[in-house]
Amino acid sequence: MSNYELLDFKIMGDARGSLIALEENHNVPFDVKRVYYIFGTKADVRRGKHAHKNLRQLAICVAGSCKFLLDNGKEKVHLELNSPTQGLLIEGVMWREMYDFSDDCVLMVLADNYYSEDDYIRNYEDFLKEAHHDS
Ligand code: TYD
Repeated sequence: MSNYELLDFKIMGDARGSLIALEENHNVPFDVKRVYYIFGTKADVRRGKHAHKNLRQLAICVAGSCKFLLDNGKEKVHLELNSPTQGLLIEGVMWREMYDFSDDCVLMVLADNYYSEDDYIRNYEDFLKEAHHDS
């Protein structure tokens, strides 16, 4: 089943500023095999435009802001990530697009598996077929 959830991370702040720690299988609810980050994306660019067959990901906008379109094949939701204190967990066969990147946006993504092109569904019609199997 595709699913998404917004997670609020505990801030360990003091007079010097703030700190957030991410730990696998604690506040990150999976084994972390890969971390990547997207930055320098132009404001008029749409990224993503794919789903995964079997991947759990946690996206954190550590600087700036960007928006997500999440589509499970039945419903679409638009979300904005604009805080390093919040993570967007995406599981299952979910079509995602990212857009409206601020100039300073750094979008960090933790994933429970290595990069594999075989895990991508890049065609929307193929995604709809997979999503209906999955639900
Ligand atoms: P792509 O999936 O197109 O990025 P987005 O979904 O954000 O639009 O990835 C861009 C390029 O980077 C593409 O050639 C695949 C490569 N890539 C990796 O090698 N490893 C990774 O972990 C990711 C996410 C992408």
